[in-house]
Amino acid sequence: MNFEDIPKMIRHLGRTLFGSAPIAPVTDLTGKTAIITGASPGSIGFETAKTLAAWGGNVIITTRSNPDATVRALVAALSLEGKSANITGHTLDLTDAQSVNSFAEWFQKNDENRLHILINNAGIHLDLLSQWKEPTRTPDGFEIHWRTNYLGSAMLTHLLLPQLKNAGAIDGDARVINVSSHLHNKGLNSELFSQQRPYDSWEAYGQSKLATVHHAFEIQRRFAQQFNVKGYVLHPGAIATNISGKGLEGTGLLQKLRNLFSPIEALILLSPTEGAQTQIYCASHPSIIGGFYYERCERGDVNTESSDTLVAERLWDETQTWIQSVCNTSETGTQQTVKL
Ligand SMILES: NC(=O)c1ccc[n+]([C@@H]2O[C@H](COP(=O)([O-])OP(=O)(O)OC[C@H]3O[C@@H](n4cnc5c(N)ncnc54)[C@H](OP(=O)(O)O)[C@@H]3O)[C@@H](O)[C@H]2O)c1
Repeated sequence: MNFEDIPKMIRHLGRTLFGSAPIAPVTDLTGKTAIITGASPGSIGFETAKTLAAWGGNVIITTRSNPDATVRALVAALSLEGKSANITGHTLDLTDAQSVNSFAEWFQKNDENRLHILINNAGIHLDLLSQWKEPTRTPDGFEIHWRTNYLGSAMLTHLLLPQLKNAGAIDGDARVINVSSHLHNKGLNSELFSQQRPYDSWEAYGQSKLATVHHAFEIQRRFAQQFNVKGYVLHPGAIATNISGKGLEGTGLLQKLRNLFSPIEALILLSPTEGAQTQIYCASHPSIIGGFYYERCERGDVNTESSDTLVAERLWDETQTWIQSVCNTSETGTQQTVKL
């Protein structure tokens, strides 16, 4: 940690604990198609899907398993509010290239050829107690946070770019919204291509989230002017969702204590509905500007590492090389490029 970061961190903590939650203004999304990854009940993805559907959007949600149950839960929650909804679901595992391919193919076959909003929301933050001495790796050999939070979402975005460009060309507005985290501040450009520091799972999470910032800014630079496809990235807040339960899995007593004190956690943290607001805002606000980092429904402070456009370009290129390799072969991965 840098001493210059302290005022920023105090302000962040103060707003997290004591600030009132901002609310995204209602916007008519009739005629817009939105994909939200990772929308399991209890998550901010679920609340985001609920709102975008309530505002008239054609919403597609993904979960790792049983998406139909999530769709039913969303429809039931909306009908309690007297609203009907246009929601479908599909399985998606971002760590499995085949699964990402199948989802993109399914979307392309089943939906019209336009995608207005892609919210790369699904993510993990495991090992909250920072006990891992070595990285946990996915079957194709990547550090698990990097593979889930960044690489999988980048691959999905790549496969859906034709539909995003169509929406941008026909309707003048398509958006990719990457859900990052304040912890992207733990990321360093020098660590993006090969690991120099001893492994620390919080830093690994930060690296994956810094990469999502570069990715969103690069989308803005590459596609906003010519194709009306804009890139947004955001910190949703500190929110009581399922993420911390998963991050404490296997910790025995601590997990039990957390369950016991979850009502207090819910008092301190934002609710999923509150935590969903910034991504709803980025997805829907008619005049929000692309290419920035958002927090609490307004522009926020982003890690200065993200202003290095050469790093962003290299990350983009190496990621594309990897994506091509997994798209062109039937195998589910390669360790040749993009951070082992
Ligand atoms: N909660 C916070 O305080 C906080 C703070 C900063 C940033 N964020 C970010 O906000 C986003 C949403 O998190 P959340 O708090 O709503 O957590 P959550 O309740 O755990 O929801 C995460 C969603 O991502 C899905 N997911 C996990 N691994 C996946 C994979 N390999 N492939 C596809 N989907 C996968 C989960 O599916 P399963 O249900 O199957 O696991 C779930 O639907 C994440 O990107 C997270 O990093 C959260």
